[in-house]
Amino acid sequence: MGIVNDQSAPSLVVVDPALADSLERLRSVVDTAVDGIITIDERGVIDSVNPAAARMFGYAPDELLGRNVSMLMPSPHAEAHDGYLEHYLNTGQARIIGIGRELHARRRDGSAFPMRLAVSEMRFSDGRRAFTGIVTDLTDRRRLERQVLESAASEQRRIGQDLHDGLCQQLAALGVSIEMLKRKSSQGSTIDPAQLDKIRQLLNNSLGQLRQVAHGLQPVSFRAGGLPAALRELAMMTADRFHVCCRARCANDADVDDQTTADHLYRIAQEATGNAIKHGKARQVRINLATPPVGGLWLAVMDNGVGFPGANVPPTVPPPTTSGMGLRIMKYRADAIGADFRIRRRRRGAAVCCALPPARR
Ligand SMILES: Nc1ncnc2c1ncn2[C@@H]1O[C@H](COP(=O)(O)OP(=O)(O)OP(=O)(O)O)[C@@H](O)[C@H]1O
Ligand SMILES: [Mg+2]
Repeated sequence: MGIVNDQSAPSLVVVDPALADSLERLRSVVDTAVDGIITIDERGVIDSVNPAAARMFGYAPDELLGRNVSMLMPSPHAEAHDGYLEHYLNTGQARIIGIGRELHARRRDGSAFPMRLAVSEMRFSDGRRAFTGIVTDLTDRRRLERQVLESAASEQRRIGQDLHDGLCQQLAALGVSIEMLKRKSSQGSTIDPAQLDKIRQLLNNSLGQLRQVAHGLQPVSFRAGGLPAALRELAMMTADRFHVCCRARCANDADVDDQTTADHLYRIAQEATGNAIKHGKARQVRINLATPPVGGLWLAVMDNGVGFPGANVPPTVPPPTTSGMGLRIMKYRADAIGADFRIRRRRRGAAVCCALPPARR
């Protein structure tokens, strides 16, 4: 299925082979584009649509041709669109053309989805004008953003609960012990050193818990040694908790100045390590953080587990069959910091790789 044009539109007979070749190339770019591409005339009537656009809106391409583009918009924009177009043609004042916006679009089944729309104008030699809209479906991106926010909120709830159940109880016990000592000393009794020891122990426990909470909130910045140190600690905690061999090999100069970038890389390593244990049943996990000669930073989490299900290396991220969010969120995090994210099949096990280009470090 290629780009579909309205047959009633003026057609072009191309005789120059070089021109025909370049038109053919252009057509194949449009046909295979991931984004939807729709052109409309001055009245808002659709005169061409590429396969991605038709898929996105749930129509067959020829169901869209010749119809008003407002059918792809929810209320109130659908009713107002002819007016927007007229206003632009009369006044030249653009609200969207040449600017681009995030809006909602309407699928065939009436459901709305978030999209980024970029519109540009074309002017033909005969005076006709037309508009090209490039539509990016933001549904997955929005879902991931929600998921990242939810996981941050659930982490906060967990920390709140830990603070309440652990630290608050210990501090309350500390308060009671100090109150008892005060009463004793006001009655002239001597203070038992064992009681002071108990208080010191409670204080040390509380301090330990507080440190853990602080580390949980800011996994990288709280450690001296930045990202390499945080990853070494992740490896130690993983080995300890799951009784596997988990090692981090991190170049000491492989730190990043930007805190957000460091946090995202740490969370990617954390999810990949968790997956290696949970899904790969790995006995060995290696976390590598290196500075390649070309610059930038290279993070890889490699395991010796069962590998990804299916015969091939997952060609895309996430694999289409998974319902989990971990891989999607790792990819989202990598995108957010401008890094390349890949999953590789190893001779035994899997590898999750994330390459940060020099400019992003
Ligand atoms: N290291 C690995 N070895 C083998 N399979 C893996 C590995 N990492 C991921 N997978 C496969 O990819 C799937 C998706 O992983 P993903 O992290 O996205 O979801 P999840 O771990 O199942 O759930 P969530 O991360 O949302 O808690 C897993 O169900 C598993 O089949
Ligand atoms: Mg996971």
